[in-house]
Amino acid sequence: MTGKELMELALQARKRAYVPYSNYKVGAALLDCDGKVFRGCNIENAAYSPSNCAERTAIFKAVSEGSTKFSALAVVADSPNPVTPCGVCRQVMVEFCDPKMPVYLGNLKGELVETTVEQLLPGAFTAEALTPEGRH
Ligand code: THU
Repeated sequence: MTGKELMELALQARKRAYVPYSNYKVGAALLDCDGKVFRGCNIENAAYSPSNCAERTAIFKAVSEGSTKFSALAVVADSPNPVTPCGVCRQVMVEFCDPKMPVYLGNLKGELVETTVEQLLPGAFTAEALTPEGRH
């Protein structure tokens, strides 16, 4: 699947965003190594901090369904430049995705930028930093 095709699925996912507070809809589509796609949208909350970004919705859906190996992620929002994932989502990407995995960032103008997990979060904190007992 191309980055553009994955972006189309992220655009579909965006339609389901639950954003009564920010009114800022984000969609994500995560491709696993078996070719399965998990879609995600942002889901907000009246208490604000329980809100979940589209990227984490997609990743957590996948992991909770038994999929932990991924080959690409697309994210899209109505942003002037291709949407840029928040720091928390970058850290979650690092946990489950290869540093070289492509991440496609888009907006409603059709602009599409390809980056990687390690470009989004260089020097990330990982399991390597934990004591041997803490590593899985
Ligand atoms: N948001 C995402 O879902 N992904 C991003 O990459 C950036 C921000 C959400 C969080 C919140 O629901 C809304 O966008 C405004 O910050």
